[in-house]
Formats: sequence, C-alpha cells, structure tokens
Amino acid sequence: MRNFCIFLTFICLNAVANPKAPGDTQIAIETQKTALVIRVDKAGDPTVIHLGKRLQNPAEYGLLSDNGKRGEDYTQLYNSAYTPAGARNLLEPALQVAHADGNPSSDLKYVRHETQTVSDGVVLTTVFLKDPQYPFEVKLFYKAYQQEDVIEQWSSIRHTEKKTVRLQKYASANLYIPAKNYYLTHFHGDWAKEMNPEEIPLTAGLKVLDSKLGTRAHLFQPPSFLLSLNKPAEEETGEVIAGTLAWSGNYQIQFEVDPLRNLRLIAGINPYASEYMLAPDKEFVTPAFLYTYSDSGKGQASRNMHRWARKYRIPQGEGNRLTLLNNWEATYFDFNEEKLTALFKDGKKLGVDLFLLDDGWFANKYPRNDDHTGLGDWQENKQKLPHGLGYLVKEAESAGIKFGIWLEPEMVSPKSELYEKHPDWVIKLPNRPEYYFRNQLVLDLSNPKVQDFVYGVVDGILTKNPTLGYIKWDCNAVIYNAYSATNPNPSHLYVEYVQGLYKVLEKLRVKYPTLPLMLCSGGGGRVDYGALKYFTEFWPSDNTDGLERIFIQWNYSYFFPAIAMCNHITDWGKQPIKFRTDVAMMGKMGYDIVVSKLDEKELAFSQDALKTYSRVKDVIWKGDLFRLVSPQTSDMASLLYVSEKQDKAMWFNYLVGNRYREGSQGAIRLSGLSPAKKYRIQEVNVYPGTTSPINGNQVVYSGDYLMTVGFNPAVDARRASVVLEITEAN
Ligand code: GLA
Repeated sequence: MRNFCIFLTFICLNAVANPKAPGDTQIAIETQKTALVIRVDKAGDPTVIHLGKRLQNPAEYGLLSDNGKRGEDYTQLYNSAYTPAGARNLLEPALQVAHADGNPSSDLKYVRHETQTVSDGVVLTTVFLKDPQYPFEVKLFYKAYQQEDVIEQWSSIRHTEKKTVRLQKYASANLYIPAKNYYLTHFHGDWAKEMNPEEIPLTAGLKVLDSKLGTRAHLFQPPSFLLSLNKPAEEETGEVIAGTLAWSGNYQIQFEVDPLRNLRLIAGINPYASEYMLAPDKEFVTPAFLYTYSDSGKGQASRNMHRWARKYRIPQGEGNRLTLLNNWEATYFDFNEEKLTALFKDGKKLGVDLFLLDDGWFANKYPRNDDHTGLGDWQENKQKLPHGLGYLVKEAESAGIKFGIWLEPEMVSPKSELYEKHPDWVIKLPNRPEYYFRNQLVLDLSNPKVQDFVYGVVDGILTKNPTLGYIKWDCNAVIYNAYSATNPNPSHLYVEYVQGLYKVLEKLRVKYPTLPLMLCSGGGGRVDYGALKYFTEFWPSDNTDGLERIFIQWNYSYFFPAIAMCNHITDWGKQPIKFRTDVAMMGKMGYDIVVSKLDEKELAFSQDALKTYSRVKDVIWKGDLFRLVSPQTSDMASLLYVSEKQDKAMWFNYLVGNRYREGSQGAIRLSGLSPAKKYRIQEVNVYPGTTSPINGNQVVYSGDYLMTVGFNPAVDARRASVVLEITEAN
C-alpha cells in the first residue's frame, strides 16, 4: 500500500510539473476595437477577465480585478476560459469527460500560449491547457479578425491515456461577461416562419438555445443571438455581442447568470445523445463559435459580421452572383422538356442569368412525381426528360441562359432504388417503425461509403454536364430514430453526420471551387456559418410574401450579408409585383413565376428592374447595411446600403403597418454617408404609368444634411414601397 502511495505521488508530481507555475501571465486577444483578456490566476487557472472594448494601454488590463465580486467563498465560481466538470466547478461546464480510469473529473491548468499572424489582419492565439493528473490536453484557439472586430473561437481535445476517454461535453467556447443586466435577443421559427426575434432579460440561472434536429441547426431555434449588456441595445447605440455557432447540426448555447450576477456563456455541439469516445492520440476539434462586440449598437455588430463573412467565410463573398428564374412554383413536379424550354426562353426574355430546374427531374422505377418517391435515384426521369440534363443545359445555353438544378443528396425516399439496395445506409432504429419527415429518411453520412455515394452523385452530374451553372442543395428532413447500423460508435452519429457532410462539401469545393451553391433546407431550416463555408448563398424561407419577407430578411440581416441571401419574386402574398421586386432586391434577386403570365407593364417593369439591379447590386451586396426604421416597432421599414467609398447608396422603404397607413410622414435620418460629400437622390423601380414625386427634385444634399435632418422618401398607402438610389454629386 505504502509503495502504491509513493508511486501515485510520483505520478502526480510529475504531472503537475508540466503545467507552468502560476504567475502573472495575461493573454490579450485583440482586434481593432475589442479585446478578450485571459489571465492565468494564482492557481494556474486560465480566467476570462475582460470581453468588450479594447483598452488603449494594454498594460492596464493588469489592473482589472476578477470583477471585484469574487471572495474566497466563491472560488467555485471562478470564471474559467474553459470550465472543467467534476472537481470544484459547480456551474455549467465547458468540458465534461470520463477518463480512461473512470474518473469523472477534470482540471485544466495553463501550460503556455502562442500568437501568430496567420494572414494579413488575422491573428491566431492558441492557449495550451493540461490536466495535472492525466495526460489530457485542451487547446483553445482564438482567431482575431482585426478590421472586422470578429473573434472565431474553437477548441481541440487530445490525450494519451491508456484507453478511450469518454467526452460527454466538449464546448467550442466558454466566455465570461460581467454586466449589470443582460438582454438576450434569440430567434425562433418553423417552415415559412423563420427568424422571429424575442428579446428577454436574462434572470438568474440558465437559458439554453439548442437544436436536436440532427440535420438542421436553424429551423426552430437558430444558433445565432444578440446579447445586450446593461440595457437593450438599439441600432446605433448600446453594448451588444452578436454570436453564432458555425455548426449545421445539434448545438447548444447556454447563458448562465451566476450567483454573482455575472454571465457565463458556453457554446458548442449539443451534448445530447452525443458521447464521443476519444481514442488515445486522436484529436477532437470542435466547431467555431463566432462573435463580435459593438459598443455602438446592433447595426455595427451586423456590419462587422457581414464584412467578416464576405471576406473570410462565404465562397466568392466579394464576388459575383447570378440572377435566376426557378420553376418550382411555376410547375411543381409537373413538367417536361417542352415546358422547361419555354420557361427558360422566358427567363432569357426577362433578363436573368440562369434557369434553375427544381425538384422532380429524376428517378425512374419510382418516378419523382410528388414528394413521396425517388430521392436517392439521381438519374433523369426518362418520361419527363428523355434527352437528359445535358440536352437541357445545351438548349438553355443556346438560348443565352445558364442552367442549374435542384438536388437533395443527403436524403432517401422509402420508395427508391437506393433504399432497396442499401437499407443499412439509412438512419433508423432496427426495432422501431420508420418515421418520416416530408415522407423521407436521412442517409447516414457518418458512413464513409455514404459520403462517397453523395460526393459521387454530385461529381457525376457535374462531370457529365461540365457547364451546369448552379446547384440548389436542399435538406428537407430532420433525423428521427437516430441510429447508425454501421457506425461502431452509435453515439457519434449526430456529430459524424455533420462532419461527414462537411467532408463531402469540402471535397466538392476542392474540385469545383467557383460553382454557385444554394443552401436550402425546406426554406431556411439550415442557415449557419458552418455550412456557409461551402455555399455561396442561402434560401432564407419558402415564404416569399413581400410583406413577410421584410421581417424575415430584416432578422437574418443581423448576422448574414445581403450577397448571400436569395430573395425570389413569386406569387405569394398580396403585394403588387413592384413591392415584391423591391424587397427581393435587398439581397440576391431571383424569380419563381410564370413570366408569360405577366402583363405588359409587369414585364416591362421587371425587365427594367433587372437592369437597375445589375447597375446597383454591388452597393447592396458589398455595402454597409444601416437599418434605419424597424418594421418591428413602426409602420415602416427603411434600410440603407452604403458603398465602402460612401459614394453610392441604395435606400429601401416600405409601408408595413395596417393601421392608418400613414407612411413616412416626414424626413428619415440617414446613416453611414460622408458628411462632407454631396449627394443626389433619384427614385428607381418606378412603376410604368406612375410618376415619382422625388425625381423632379434637382437638389443636391450634403451627407451632413441627410444624416442630421434627413429626407422624406414619400412613402404612403399609394407608394407602399420606394427605392432610392443615392449617388455622389460631382
Ligand atoms: C423545399 C424548398 C423549396 C423547393 C422544394 C422542392 O421545400 O424549400 O424551395 O425546392 O423543397 O421539393
């Protein structure tokens, strides 16, 4: 027994010798305006002491106390940069593991950190932590985007214990925010009702945002939020953090107001049914949590996110996009070559760049004539398309328009040849009845064979049709009966599904780096920056009612830039085509209508709008967004996109209220212009046969005037949507 104790002591001492002796190490992760500061405290624990505005003199971070509220009695509430479970922490942990010997506790001490500039304006700080008792290490990564004021944070876990370690919770980020009060704006939704905001004060205890849908992070409760500090932030004032998790599957974001009224934020993969068996020497890397801090309101936080996403995340985020005509609502499943040819010729007449063939073009044994059959059998349906996709691609090209297709490659219909051939590729429980979401099942992307199949489907179509110009990638089902027949670790399914999907997308992006890809999931069921690493754009909602879309797009715009937001003009809703077109212009514009049914004025208006769009789209896509008047709190919505050089702006105004319908009634103050510059204002998208009360006006205004006094866009019941082009006057 005595020998055993001596032996144990030796191991312990040896292990403790690894982590660095406690000292005054301070790690400042800084961007142009913000800082996250980690201090290694006396016990060697990495603690978050600041998240917010950057101090001009970094030496003064040394003056920061641990919020002054902590006493000896509260050591269990230490504000760890990665809180381990099982020992002295009594709040929500970031990390919970069962070690190889069964010990359910962890401790993480600081070892060292390093900082490197990974590219111009991007600085990566890595903090190395280690358990004093186990060969178990965690690395915390913080990528600081200097100009955009965005921090991308993730972690990795590795060990060399004798056997597998069970990871029960493995967060991406653990932050600590002291403020007097916290107001959380989170979002909820469902099909055709995406992104409804709710702002709540956080009270003592836990508030959790999460998803357990498997394939979609976003549908019911998006992984994106705004957190106001001290008091609710407005568009241009107040302290706010915009945060979002870059993961397309089950996620969990926890906000815990602790007994000292400080906020602990833990974001990562949802631990629900996802215990991960980590073998010795393997590394588990978590997805990234992205956030930006603004002390000048939600507007600045959004602009930071947009700039970051365009420059660093979304493929061709600063490039071009194609306008398109989609046939979904024009035909649903009922089409043939003749119908399609007529439609894409109409698309050419309208003036769009591409024709997008939606669902229903594939499967033969179980033809895809409605949404019950055929998913998985990605061969052209011989009855509808006897000459195949290649023929249509060529026909379209000779008509002067590009051609793209809809795919849903992660899915399988119970009635399909794929299901018959590979029942073990389907996610389902062996002893439970199958349960369907939109009459379909999900393929087991944790299986490398399924990954190869999905890659092969897309690659095969693109190889056969090298000029195919676009893919709309849909995902219409969630995961029920979550179980993998082939995965040696069934509890890895949720995590490895998403990893498998990303592997496929990564491989496709290597081979097809510039192919435009639309991220769709039964409307906006999957919109997150994990997937948007691969997709050039996303489909926010099947709800294309012009009025509803103002709200939906407004709420997406807190996190996602206009260049990635596909807005189509369809027959949904009661608004005239001008209104619907104006709304669709605030993003990546497209159509889903029968062009031949447009009357003369509607067609002329639409053709003209597309020409205007091609002139002004860069301002909308790459400019800074200023949300001037909120439809959530007034009868109007007003949004302004200003070019980086401040020489051009596009200003969109809508009447949204039903009461009195009074409209703008006076000047609206603009934002983001240069006070010294002079501007002209011209109305565009003027409907044929109407005149603009604005366009006779030859006045030149200074930016100072427009931002101090404002301008009246003259919105009223007869002019329910008004689009103004603002150009610098020479
Ligand atoms: C989903 C999409 C639609 C359409 C249909 C096709 O619902 O959101 O846009 O593509 O699938 O089945």
